[in-house]
Amino acid sequence: MKLVFATNNKHKLDEVRKITAQHNIEVVSLADIHCHDEIPETADTLEGNALQKAQYIQDKFGLDCFADDTGLEVEALNGAPGVYSARYAGGEGHNAPGVYSARYAGPGHDSEANMQKLLQEMEGKTNRKARFRTVIALIIGDKQYCFSGIVNGTITTEKKGENGFGYDPIFIPEGYEQTFAELGDFVKNKISHRAKAVEQLDHFLANLNL
Ligand code: IMP
Repeated sequence: MKLVFATNNKHKLDEVRKITAQHNIEVVSLADIHCHDEIPETADTLEGNALQKAQYIQDKFGLDCFADDTGLEVEALNGAPGVYSARYAGGEGHNAPGVYSARYAGPGHDSEANMQKLLQEMEGKTNRKARFRTVIALIIGDKQYCFSGIVNGTITTEKKGENGFGYDPIFIPEGYEQTFAELGDFVKNKISHRAKAVEQLDHFLANLNL
């Protein structure tokens, strides 16, 4: 089975392909289908954004598709940056408000600024609890499905580690003492928000009679 994953983020593609490879699902990227559009991402929830991106691809290319949206929700900041995680520190390109640009999507030009802003906002706060939440929206034919995954953890006081992307250097998952960026892909892919959401997607697809 072939499905478009509405992203060009290499890290996300690698993470998802490693999980879906165990089954018969071929995941292709936006670049693979020659989509270089600015895809609207104007909803104020992760679910809304994920559905909006998947629907755009299905409408324009006629291909079944899934899209994800992820937010880092920090308890002491009332759930911020949440759905605004990508553009927390402002910024251009794929972080511009309301647009997911297939052209600019990559490791995240503004991850450094986003992390610095979050560390600043968290200065002096003793409650460091946070969670990553991923929502995957799948559109097959005229049917829509949503899957979500959460990983709880804490925000560090400084960046640590070189692996992963985005906020990984400042997030320690529950049950561990190192950040996602220190733990590396092998561990992250077993326990992450995205891994949990993709496992649900995978399970769903495996049980679907196509
Ligand atoms: P999006 O889902 O690609 O829009 O991501 C929203 C924001 O969360 C971006 O700033 C990403 O860099 C960040 N992000 C998404 N997934 C992860 C992850 O697995 N680890 C760390 N940061 C992430």
